[in-house]
Amino acid sequence: MNGTPRIVVLAGDGIGPEIVAAARQVLDALGEFSYEEQLMGGCSIDEHGTALTDEVLEACRSADAVLLGAVGGPKWDTTDPNAPRPEQGLLGLRKGMGLYANLRPVRPSPALVGASPLREERIAGTDLLVVRELTGGIYFGDSGRDGDVAHDTCEYSAEEIDRIARTAFDAARRRAESSGRKPKVTSVDKANVLETSRLWREVVGRVAGDYEDVELEHLLVDNAAMQLVSRPADFDVVLSENLFGDILSDEAAMLTGSLGMLPSASLGADGAPGLFEPVHGSAPDIAGQGVANPLATFLSAAMMLRHGLSRGEDAARIEAAVDAVLERGLRTPDLASGTVVQPPTSENPAPEREVGTEEMTAAVLAELA
Ligand code: IPM
Ligand code: MG
Repeated sequence: MNGTPRIVVLAGDGIGPEIVAAARQVLDALGEFSYEEQLMGGCSIDEHGTALTDEVLEACRSADAVLLGAVGGPKWDTTDPNAPRPEQGLLGLRKGMGLYANLRPVRPSPALVGASPLREERIAGTDLLVVRELTGGIYFGDSGRDGDVAHDTCEYSAEEIDRIARTAFDAARRRAESSGRKPKVTSVDKANVLETSRLWREVVGRVAGDYEDVELEHLLVDNAAMQLVSRPADFDVVLSENLFGDILSDEAAMLTGSLGMLPSASLGADGAPGLFEPVHGSAPDIAGQGVANPLATFLSAAMMLRHGLSRGEDAARIEAAVDAVLERGLRTPDLASGTVVQPPTSENPAPEREVGTEEMTAAVLAELA
């Protein structure tokens, strides 16, 4: 990439503006970026009556990358099928930018193993990546209402399955290079019931033929949900269609103790701009209080540097800085609540200290300096 990277920033709603502003400070500590702030989500509904305008979609398409905060909030919650919803902006972006591959890495930070609701020995060694298909399935199929009857249709083509499967197998190979583990893809479906899942299983099996070094296992989604909490460390890459991936990635997120820690990347065709956002939502209940956890947004900015801007070294610096501040005991309230605040022990000598967004950001900046 030549010149200053052009980043469209969609801060969105709730805590979105706070965490994105913090992430910009982190990026600015690493180099020069040009930002273009745009409205998407509830804030765009208030201004334009729609969650995503054509102009904003066009700006995103022609950027080098898109950094997103979060969208939505009670103000725009409605069951009226004709009212605009913030989430439509997100879905419109995914479809309009062709972002078919959603990557959600789940790697509990060593300092936070105590924050997981699972026992430490269960999550020890967990390091997995959810690869979720993002522009097909029931999210985008025909839907409608006829009186008291409603329907949503799930449809997948072999081509859509093939390309996301390749994303998963390629990711497994790349991960094995750094971890030294034998690469594995766990493909999740409901092939005992759904025709789309039978096609899914067939196509994934075919793609696996091109990756003989990568182990493939098929799991039914209900079983996968169970295995994810009973033996999380056995998973490497989890490949799934859109809706199953939505559900399983929230489940997997809790392995880290907080949804507030997880980043994501949504990628399209080679060379097209990607979209990078924290997995957590807009948390309207704590918006504006200065207590939002900015770490998932920092880690999303790291994914943007690695996957979107070919700056893997800068990405690794952010990741190391995040680990370091957690090691030093800094916790935003979402990480520090209840049983999570722990007294210093021999393994974890840093006493935990509750901090807000600003102090957490300053600590990360100090690590980077
Ligand atoms: C996610 C979210 C979205 C989804 C919503 C906000 C539409 O839950 O990114 O996981 O369901 O994909
Ligand atoms: Mg979700």
